[in-house]
Amino acid sequence: MKRHLISAGDLTRDDALLVLDTAEELARVSERSIKKLPTLRGRTVVNLFYEDSTRTRISFEAAAKRLSADVINFSAKGSSVSKGESLKDTALTLEAMGADAVVIRHAASGAPHRLATWVRGSVVNAGDGTHEHPTQALLDAFSMRRRMGRIEGLKVAIVGDVLHSRVARSNVLLLHALGAEVTLVAPPTLLPVAVDSWPCQVSYDLDAVLPKSDVVMMLRVQLERMNDAYFPSAREYSRRYGLDRERFGRLHDDAIVMHPGPMNRGMEISAEVADSPRSTIVEQVANGVTVRMAVLYLLLSGSEPAIGGDL
Ligand code: CP
Repeated sequence: MKRHLISAGDLTRDDALLVLDTAEELARVSERSIKKLPTLRGRTVVNLFYEDSTRTRISFEAAAKRLSADVINFSAKGSSVSKGESLKDTALTLEAMGADAVVIRHAASGAPHRLATWVRGSVVNAGDGTHEHPTQALLDAFSMRRRMGRIEGLKVAIVGDVLHSRVARSNVLLLHALGAEVTLVAPPTLLPVAVDSWPCQVSYDLDAVLPKSDVVMMLRVQLERMNDAYFPSAREYSRRYGLDRERFGRLHDDAIVMHPGPMNRGMEISAEVADSPRSTIVEQVANGVTVRMAVLYLLLSGSEPAIGGDL
């Protein structure tokens, strides 16, 4: 693997499989009463969050701690960022504190890429603007493989607000590398201009795509990033692109439903579908810790075994 994880496109098929297989090994640790490994003892992981997060921030912290790394949590709120300190100066301050890895979430697409030019440690993109969220794609792939037994050949529909979604782009890149067939389903207003160059199909018709799908990944409608009207009303969006009980009935019996969270229950997904046994939403959160352990381990510990004689 490269030194940084900025884009899912940084991962070859072999890199991605290495992360998933390492996560599978590490999942055994998460099932024990004592969940800690000494693998990253003496290493420092900084969580640098300029945007709100629940799942990603907590799971990176849990992942680093389970590998015995020292963890510094930095939130832009309440820091010297409010006094105008730049990302570069903040990064150099953290570097001076000995960060071996910086996990960054930022509202600006490209911020992790810039950060990687300023720090010596590894940079992990925990979500940058509308660009990418590679560890979300890895945990989604891990969750799919666990439920479906494979990724190669799976038909995956990614549905909703693709335009504002960093999860969609990272998933398309990763799933394509792993041999899945991805179809993006969205209203034309919620698709990026350059979507034709993405390695996937595009459809505007959810009802036509559902019966052919093995996995349906619903995306959050990112109302906070919308300055214009992208659809007539929430009710109309839900009617055309929401996954409710009736649409769920069009899926084949083994198909699963995913959502990266946080959800707008009642808008892109009904509560009944979100809480059904064929929804992987809670598993995705649990798998996030394991997959992020694998990423930190592979970036920081070189060739030492993930689970070795220390056990
Ligand atoms: N899926 C995801 O990135 O969730 P958070 O915004 O809560 O981290």
